[in-house]
Amino acid sequence: MEIVILPDTTAIGALAADAIVNLVQRKPDAVLGLATGSSPLAIYDELAARYAAGQVSFAQARGFTLDEYVGLPADHPETYRNVIHKDFVDRVDFAEGAVRGPDGLATDIPAFCAAYEDAIVAAGGVDLQILGIGTVGHIGFNEPGSSLASRTRIKTLTRQTRIDNARFFGGDVDAVPTHCLTQGLGTIMAARHIVLVATGPQKAEAVHHLVEGAVSALWPGTILQHHPHVTVLLDGAAASRL
Ligand code: GLP
Repeated sequence: MEIVILPDTTAIGALAADAIVNLVQRKPDAVLGLATGSSPLAIYDELAARYAAGQVSFAQARGFTLDEYVGLPADHPETYRNVIHKDFVDRVDFAEGAVRGPDGLATDIPAFCAAYEDAIVAAGGVDLQILGIGTVGHIGFNEPGSSLASRTRIKTLTRQTRIDNARFFGGDVDAVPTHCLTQGLGTIMAARHIVLVATGPQKAEAVHHLVEGAVSALWPGTILQHHPHVTVLLDGAAASRL
């Protein structure tokens, strides 16, 4: 694991954007693993700015998102599909349908999840996966107790994750869905390069376990210690327990 401590989210966004722009210039049809949440926003802002400045194109790139709430109507603003389109996809020049995500309204969930795994493999696998980390140590929505070898599947959200995400649902924890579909830890580990971003003091404990803790399903992000190419981008507050 390469740990980089930077002054602020702008610097984090710029460094991560450098890696992504480099990749897409070298391999225009690169496969990006896209994360939602607040952590990657500075990366997406920077990439959108570089696209607007004519420095990068995503016209041939593909993307797969990590996770999705189960049961939200397709037009709900907080489906992760709608969020990633608003935060990134619609601000650059991805081709129609080039970014796919888990379908939280799938009727046959196991069949959908198997097909999603197959689609990632058929695309050649993820070249660069952007990740955040939850305060409980989840990556994607792989909550504590997730199998370290898991693949895309349905999961129950922890109470803490629903509390953390209530801010996106008008502060009402009961409005946060109880279930999600998420790429598994095994799926995420198959990406060739992983860039994880964490900022703020509320992430310090999860970052401490991620980097210095024992590998354990209780802190799911710790599986990344077994990955050959992980870059962890932190601000001082998130790094304060290292
Ligand atoms: C969310 C998402 C994760 C995200 C994490 C941290 O619930 N499922 O993909 O990385 O929790 O979110 P944030 O970046 O907003 O702190």
